[in-house]
Amino acid sequence: MARILITSAIPYINGIKHLGNLVGSQLPADLYARFMRGRGHEVLFLCATDEHGTPAELAAAKAGKPVEEFCAEMHAVQKGIADGFRLSFDHFGRSSSQRNHRLTQHFAGKLAENGLIEEVSEKQVFSVADNRFLPDRYIEGTCPNCGYDRARGDQCENCTKQLDPTDLINPRSAISGSTDLELRQTKHLYLRQRALRDRLEAWIDSRADWPVLTTSIARKWLNDGEGLQDRGITRDLFWGVPVRKGDQPWPGMEGKVFYVWFDAPIEYIACAAEWADANGLTEADWQRWWRTDKGAADVRYVQFMGKDNVPFHTLSFPATIMGSGEPWKLVDYIKSFNYLNYDGGQFSTSQGRGVFMDQALSILPPDYWRWWLLSHAPENADSEFTWENFQASVNKDLADVLGNLVSRVTKFATSKLGDMVPAGGEFGPRETALIADLGARLRDYEAFMEAMDIRKAAAELRGIWVVGNEYLQGAAPWSAVKTDPGRAEAIVRLSLNLIRVYAILSRPFIPDAAATMMAAMGSNDWTWPDHIGKALRALPPGHPFTVPENLFRKITDEERADWQQRFSGVRG
Ligand code: 2FM
Ligand code: ZN
Repeated sequence: MARILITSAIPYINGIKHLGNLVGSQLPADLYARFMRGRGHEVLFLCATDEHGTPAELAAAKAGKPVEEFCAEMHAVQKGIADGFRLSFDHFGRSSSQRNHRLTQHFAGKLAENGLIEEVSEKQVFSVADNRFLPDRYIEGTCPNCGYDRARGDQCENCTKQLDPTDLINPRSAISGSTDLELRQTKHLYLRQRALRDRLEAWIDSRADWPVLTTSIARKWLNDGEGLQDRGITRDLFWGVPVRKGDQPWPGMEGKVFYVWFDAPIEYIACAAEWADANGLTEADWQRWWRTDKGAADVRYVQFMGKDNVPFHTLSFPATIMGSGEPWKLVDYIKSFNYLNYDGGQFSTSQGRGVFMDQALSILPPDYWRWWLLSHAPENADSEFTWENFQASVNKDLADVLGNLVSRVTKFATSKLGDMVPAGGEFGPRETALIADLGARLRDYEAFMEAMDIRKAAAELRGIWVVGNEYLQGAAPWSAVKTDPGRAEAIVRLSLNLIRVYAILSRPFIPDAAATMMAAMGSNDWTWPDHIGKALRALPPGHPFTVPENLFRKITDEERADWQQRFSGVRG
């Protein structure tokens, strides 16, 4: 039994994620966590809300709520949606927790002790009316390049030119519209990432097994232009982790907070501590997942994220960990994803385009989405959600293949042979062939899941369902029962056992349907079918079963058209 630590990129607090975000981090992480638990490994699966930063402050202000209250409410909302998708986090933490405050301050203190923090004085735009320094993207004005009058201080959206706030003509605050802006001197802490460049590069070079998507992004940031840059890790904001050096004040940094991207990944660690706190466990209990001097040396740590998050996870966060000089665990494998597009365009949070997690659950149960999203995960390239494809995949894979098999077997069995696993007959050549085929497919499925080759794993699982259907079709117990009832009993005995095995194998993808199948088979034995021949005899003759409710319903053309229409515009 191995120990596996799994984290998903932590979603921002200010808003609900769309399906593209879901399939790029939380959902595949859940798939992997469920699979590894299913195989009997010890898993700690963590996620949290990413609560700091200007967007959170502004969203709270817009909602007319104190930011703490806003974040507490939104955390509960996001937790509810995560539960709705059956994301099986061991803990869903909060980056605003005291645990994260203390750990973030601790890391900053260690980095300073090790000479890796530089104090830099710089000029920054201050909005008098808003009484705050403005991050670059909260300054708007006219683009000096193309004349677009809503260019942002970091970039012009119209002509894509990279800008500095001081380049803008007629600059104003994007928060209040005020033009009463001044350049004020302010001091910030910079993490000297350049000093760690060679160590980071050697570490990335040593990760030959990582997906190309992950390492290519990391290498680009290491080597592009002037190469890896030192990075400001503090901000002049009200909401965030106050800047302190460990448990000491940091002279000259009063009233400032750490940058959200500095404290967010540290929440991966803090979340383990929050998990321990929430479950009455000790410091040692969470540290054995994170401290290589306290048992974590043999933990395998896997992170899941969209490609936009890769630089922070391959460079910045490892720089924090390495630079601390303490034996914290570095990530062992980063599974990153391309983007999922939506019906001929992009999903967009800012424009409210696409289907968002809460909306998806309001029209169909989680398994439908899980199956489609995972079987179309944007692994090697961007992929696209279309309603036609979604309908076809649900109707064929889930309803026609899996759902139909379960319903045919159980209905036939109860109507002709009673409500217990029948005892008659013996397995013959047809069953032997099926068992051999399934055994080989199962090994492939396991290999794909272990390698996090998600689309291939989904295709193999579907193949496993298909051969069961073909077996039933060929064995035709409805004919056998008329001429050779013993034979029909053997076929049904195997088929009922097949349903239980399918429940176990399918659980990481479609946990609700799996639970229904297992319950209908009157079992609670989720032991992984290492030996398929044995597993297909686990439900003995005389074991009671029931006919489950229809596992999956089909999506009609009217529904598809209606949803396509409803989700074509911009979320209100
Ligand atoms: O992209 C996002 O949604 C970020 N909130 C991800 C942060 S991941 C980590 F570093 F904590
Ligand atoms: Zn422009």
